[in-house]
Amino acid sequence: MSSASPRPSPTRYSMPGAPSRRRPQPRNGSGLSRGAARPVAHRHRAPGPGTARLPAAPFPAARFPAPRFPAPLAQLPAARGAVKAQGQPGVVVPDRSRVMASAGSPGPGGVPAVPVASGHSIPVLGLGTSHHGGYSHGAVVHALQKCGIRHIDTAKRYGCESLLQRAIRESGVKREDLWITTKLWHSDYGYENTKKACLESCERLGVEYLDLYLIHWPDAQVPGKSNREVRAETWRAMEELYEKGVCKSIGVSNFLISHLEQLKEDCVITPHVNQVEYHPFQRPQELVDYCRSRDIVFEGYCPLAKGEALTHPAVIQLAKKYSRTPAQICIRWSIQNGIVTIPKSTKAERIEENCKVFDFTIAEDDVEILNGMHDGRHVSWDPTSIV
Ligand SMILES: NC(=O)c1ccc[n+]([C@@H]2O[C@H](COP(=O)([O-])OP(=O)(O)OC[C@H]3O[C@@H](n4cnc5c(N)ncnc54)[C@H](OP(=O)(O)O)[C@@H]3O)[C@@H](O)[C@H]2O)c1
Repeated sequence: MSSASPRPSPTRYSMPGAPSRRRPQPRNGSGLSRGAARPVAHRHRAPGPGTARLPAAPFPAARFPAPRFPAPLAQLPAARGAVKAQGQPGVVVPDRSRVMASAGSPGPGGVPAVPVASGHSIPVLGLGTSHHGGYSHGAVVHALQKCGIRHIDTAKRYGCESLLQRAIRESGVKREDLWITTKLWHSDYGYENTKKACLESCERLGVEYLDLYLIHWPDAQVPGKSNREVRAETWRAMEELYEKGVCKSIGVSNFLISHLEQLKEDCVITPHVNQVEYHPFQRPQELVDYCRSRDIVFEGYCPLAKGEALTHPAVIQLAKKYSRTPAQICIRWSIQNGIVTIPKSTKAERIEENCKVFDFTIAEDDVEILNGMHDGRHVSWDPTSIV
């Protein structure tokens, strides 16, 4: 790790895994307790009586406008260690001896990263994993070794954390070059359970820290307690995991504005990321705008609408127009809309295809065509009824 670096500015993006000067160093995950020095930025509320006065929230959205691609894309460096693969335009492979100096150009195949309020940067393109046949060891190793993937999304719920440990080790990619997200399942919600579950996820993944830990779903299902109460208790444990450095960034998933507003009243640290369904049929722009205004990175899941978007005539037509595949159109569209995205495939050739999205641009009027396809449909969960 290099020496501490300041919060990235809009034009000076840091690499995944870069340290923040506000953060304590990760520990091995035991002996967590409250009361350690807290990072002072991006807090929800003023400190209570007897608490040291903290600087006002920096309203980072104003200082750090949400990335708008393709223009800022050209200013983003590739994820650390990425370098163009020989003979494979648009594909990158790891090379720790070089950091791809692509500022001023996205670089063919380079995966750019966007800043997170924690002081770290998340690669805009990651690889999803899931249960029910959503995991392939060979595909993950291929993604890491041959496609420049440095960001992997998983969850306790998916049951593949230990499998990922093996794939990461086999890939030879170093821990510090990876962005690993996992999620807390609702059976582990609550203050003590959350801390235990996080450490167990770390153990299964074979890591000492997580780059991002998310509350998977806003419904807590704890008898005798409101969802709001349980989410707040759970989030306090997440804050502590963040303060201790076990989680470099913390966030939520499937949270709506109402859930985020409650958390703002009940807790201290604003979630760094909200991971929500996002594809041409599901573009929750009000939530995207809300997150941007509070410096919460919006991460979109199911970018292909689980494959449903790939057969839509408008997507097929645009794929022909740009000589790309429907999957590349959907992924590029998410990225151009400033959304971090995590398509899943269990097939090496599809992962390669899904990664070749940094060497073309969808024209603004075509982006508008895709934007206009929103019909509110969910292909995953719909959290609107969760209070
Ligand atoms: N936070 C949450 O609650 C939540 C919920 C759902 C998903 N997620 C995350 O988001 C990730 C992605 O979501 P998802 O897997 O549900 O949906 P998705 O990425 O929209 O679509 C995946 C489907 O598309 C297929 N596919 C992938 N690339 C393709 C290509 N180039 N051409 C044709 N078909 C292609 C895959 O099949 P093959 O595997 O056979 O290639 C799979 O059936 C998940 O893996 C998970 O990490 C999070």
